[in-house]
Amino acid sequence: MEVKSEIFREYDYSSVSITNGNVISKYRFNMPTIERDEKPLEYDNENDLVVQRKRNEIIEIEHKKSSKLSEVGLQLWRGAFLLNDFILSTQHLFNDKIVLELGSGVGITSIVASIVAKKVLCTDINIAGILDLIKRNLKLNSHYQRTKNNIEVHELDFFAEKWSDQLELAIKDVDICLAADVIYENDITNGLIKSILKLFNKSKKLKEMYMALEKRYVFTDKVLAPMYECFIRMFSQQTAGILKISECPTDFPQYFEYDRCKELVLFRITKI
Ligand SMILES: C[S@@+](CC[C@H](N)C(=O)[O-])C[C@H]1O[C@@H](n2cnc3c(N)ncnc32)[C@H](O)[C@@H]1O
Repeated sequence: MEVKSEIFREYDYSSVSITNGNVISKYRFNMPTIERDEKPLEYDNENDLVVQRKRNEIIEIEHKKSSKLSEVGLQLWRGAFLLNDFILSTQHLFNDKIVLELGSGVGITSIVASIVAKKVLCTDINIAGILDLIKRNLKLNSHYQRTKNNIEVHELDFFAEKWSDQLELAIKDVDICLAADVIYENDITNGLIKSILKLFNKSKKLKEMYMALEKRYVFTDKVLAPMYECFIRMFSQQTAGILKISECPTDFPQYFEYDRCKELVLFRITKI
């Protein structure tokens, strides 16, 4: 079954086809002032403080415009944009931190995190060329990285018996975890929760995780959001006494072009 992300129906991202059958689209955003602890204040010739104004910026992303359900990471989903806005709105949380993103898809959220964070570990399952696609997208947007090569791409499969030694080593220093739109299939949700538990266990520095998702409703005789409800149920069963989850307000500024619909939810996960 072929699926298509809603975002491509709502906005024109000036997509251009390329030879491998993918498209390259332009995701416009207003860059807010970037807070850098170590950056000295700048003064002009008249000795007035130079204030950074909002700038119109573009992240260019190679992706598919539709895919099989098993390859949805080759498209972009609304949760990624909610998380992008959250990162740019709460830079103090990410400034100088080591960030790990789960199920990164095409890599847009890791690219946004790399504007602010010290280092980003961008991860996904290695199927359908996702990791190579991420690497191409990092190259297209390398000018946004806070420091040269501050993003690493790693395979992280929720179901793998063992993660690579390189990833295991890097995980030890992770401060914040991110994930967008990774709740869409019960088995994957189960694997995701087990991976979240593993990450909190392996990194002593990991204090919080932010997870965006879109509640997708099913209308029968009742109105249900089955994937969301299943996630909440499984999460409370599997992490009882270890982790807690709460919904965050989503009234922070919108920097990217997408529909900030009321079904978009942002969770904060912390240790008990
Ligand atoms: C709907 S996409 C979301 C992609 C991106 N975060 C976004 O919001 O645009 C779901 C992501 O979960 C990833 N995923 C699925 N199964 C996985 C697994 N077993 N381990 C790790 N990631 C997985 C997919 O490859 C995909 O990137």
